[in-house]
Amino acid sequence: MKKVYFGTNLKMYKNIQQTVDYLKELEKGTELINREEYEFFVIPSYISLPSATNSVSQDKIRIGAQNMGWEEEGQYTGEISPRMLDEISVKLVMVGHSERRHVFRETDEEENKKVLCGLKHGFTMLLCIGETENEKEFGISNEVLRSQLIKGLHCVRKEEVKKIWIAYEPVWAIGVNGKPASEEYANSKHKVIKECLIDIFGECGLEIPVLYGGSVNPQNADSLITQEYIDGLFVGRSAWNAEQFSSLIFKSIDTLKKHNKKVM
Ligand code: 13P
Repeated sequence: MKKVYFGTNLKMYKNIQQTVDYLKELEKGTELINREEYEFFVIPSYISLPSATNSVSQDKIRIGAQNMGWEEEGQYTGEISPRMLDEISVKLVMVGHSERRHVFRETDEEENKKVLCGLKHGFTMLLCIGETENEKEFGISNEVLRSQLIKGLHCVRKEEVKKIWIAYEPVWAIGVNGKPASEEYANSKHKVIKECLIDIFGECGLEIPVLYGGSVNPQNADSLITQEYIDGLFVGRSAWNAEQFSSLIFKSIDTLKKHNKKVM
C-alpha cells in the first residue's frame, strides 16, 4: 500500500526548545494515526537536530536535515557532512529547496552530488524541484521540471528508488509572497513528474512519492491531497503551530477517506 505524506520544513525559524516543544505536541496530536498508512516528517534547523532526534520516536515523526554537504569530510567551511547527520540519527535529508537554489545559487549538479552522497550513506533523500514564475510564463515549466529531475537524479540506481522522495514546490507559490497553485495545476505538474520518473526508472519510478508544497493552508489542503497524482503535502507556514498542523492533517485524512482515493 502506498502511504500519504505530511511534512514541514521549519526553515530558519524556532529555537531548540521551541522545536522540541513543537515536536512533542505534534507527536501527541497525531498519536492515533496509523503510521502504516501515513508518514509524518519535520525538517528543523541544523542546530535543533540533535535535540529533535532525541525528543520524538522517528517511527512516528521522521526528522530531516535541510541540506547536506556532498563530501564525508574536508576543507569545506560551513558545511555539514553525511557522517555528522548519521551520528545524530537523522534519516532524511532535503536537498534543492527553492531557497537553496534561488537565494544561495545552488545548481542541479550540486543537488545531484548531494543526492548520490546521501543515498550512499543510507538516507532517504527529498529532492525539491519547481519552476520560477518567469519559466511558467514562458510555458517551459514541464521542461524545467524534467531537467531538474534528470540532472538531480543522474546515476541514481533503480534499487535506490525507495529512498527517493520528490517535492514539487513551484517557486512562485512558496512563502509569504507566494500564490498557492490551483489543485488542477499542481496535479498536472505531478503527472509530468511521475511520467518523467517512469522515463528514468521504468515502472518502479511510480514508487517515488511526489509531494506538493507552496502555500498549502487549511483551506486548500484537502482539495490538493485528493488529487490523483499528489501523494503528500509539504507545508511551511501553516504547519508551524503543532495544533494547527494536526488539525490540517486530520481534516485532510477525513477528506481522503470520504473521497475513497485509491492509495496505490
Ligand atoms: P510555505 O507553505 O510557507 O509556502 O512554504 C513551503 C515550503 O517552502 C516548504 O518547504
